[in-house]
Amino acid sequence: MPAVVLVGAQWGDEGKGKITDFLAEDADCVVRYQGGSNAGHTVELANEKFMLHLIPSGILHAEKLCVIGNGVVVDLGKVIDEIEGLQRRGIDTSNLRISSRASVVMPYHKKIDEIEDRTKKIGTTKRGIGPTYADKISRVGFRICDLLHEESFQKKFAEEVECKNRLLEAVYGEPGFDAKEMQEQLMAQIGILKKYIADTAYLVHNSLRAGKNVLFEGAQGTLLDIDHGTYPYVTSSYPTAGGACIGSGIGPTEIGKVIGVAKAYTTRVGEGPFPTELVDATGELLRERGAEFGTTTGRPRRCGWLDAVILRYAARINGLTDLAITKLDVLDNFATLKICVAYRYQGELVYEFPDNIHVLEGCVPEYIEMPGWNQDISQITEYGDLPLEAQAYIAKIEELSGVKHSMVAVGPKRSQTIVSNRLF
Ligand code: IMP
Repeated sequence: MPAVVLVGAQWGDEGKGKITDFLAEDADCVVRYQGGSNAGHTVELANEKFMLHLIPSGILHAEKLCVIGNGVVVDLGKVIDEIEGLQRRGIDTSNLRISSRASVVMPYHKKIDEIEDRTKKIGTTKRGIGPTYADKISRVGFRICDLLHEESFQKKFAEEVECKNRLLEAVYGEPGFDAKEMQEQLMAQIGILKKYIADTAYLVHNSLRAGKNVLFEGAQGTLLDIDHGTYPYVTSSYPTAGGACIGSGIGPTEIGKVIGVAKAYTTRVGEGPFPTELVDATGELLRERGAEFGTTTGRPRRCGWLDAVILRYAARINGLTDLAITKLDVLDNFATLKICVAYRYQGELVYEFPDNIHVLEGCVPEYIEMPGWNQDISQITEYGDLPLEAQAYIAKIEELSGVKHSMVAVGPKRSQTIVSNRLF
């Protein structure tokens, strides 16, 4: 089964970094296909913690081809910092490849993101993601390959900076940018990155043709998808499984399995409706026990019970074949656990995830209760050794989502992963 896509089944932060890192062991190639430095993956390896934003977690394994695909928006300064940070810690980055077709996040994108979020109040990461994708779709953005041809780049770039300066100065009353200075910085950055730049779609295709195992690593999550998420409280890319094809340049027929990573409860950062949110001591306890603070921004995450309406939706939208359930150990000390099985909206039961956020805002969760297990499960390595209550909780998730689990994470370390079914 050479191509596996890994996606977040909720609002991101499901612990995808750890599962990717685990699967990367058996993969020959790991590909990021969307998003940018808004993502934050934490991987714990031999008592060391690695925080990755743009580079696939596969980089921590020697000899894997690690790809930043065409669907990613790349902040050149950030990717250089990440490469140098890894190198300082003895990690070999020579197998990293960045798509020449990937879009570049410019300093003005970050500035515009910051200014616009003051009024739009999406609660973005201020990494310039939305404005960069907007420019890409408006066909006024810059791709990495454009920067490799300085002469043709210069004219178009000067015009675009002038246009952005008009917006910043006249509309927002903020200072503009010096195009020449910015260009010099970009040229210096592209000089450093040159050796990593490639036609990555071609490389990934060749890996697949050679029968190699390729893992497509989604960032963010299903409900942050620009089309299928809780619009407008979403990111500007396609974190769902279909995004893997567009964002890496492979066809849908290549994909064999899609694994959805779901936290054993629910969290979200930023604004927007969240039916099972707990704004009480139980929510606080989940945040504390789960260390629920953003990797990229440090913001406290909103926490709540598991929502099976969301998981069913994620299963359908992504065509999930497997589930990886993460952070099950965070629920160790709860006497009773709740799972939302449907919503009640204006007196009616709703089983499908609503399209409109105002409807979602009015949805009240219908819960079932399950007994907790009241014991430490963080050292358990075999599924059959989990307390029966924990097994029942997972079986209920499978029943409600219609997807079997393949992996269960009971702690942040690689060793704290129970594997019931191997994906590669
Ligand atoms: P942006 O991606 O920075 O434009 O932010 C848009 C929305 O997506 C905000 O609600 C962010 O908090 C959320 N978001 C972006 N990246 C992540 C992530 O990696 N995990 C969780 N939420 C994210």
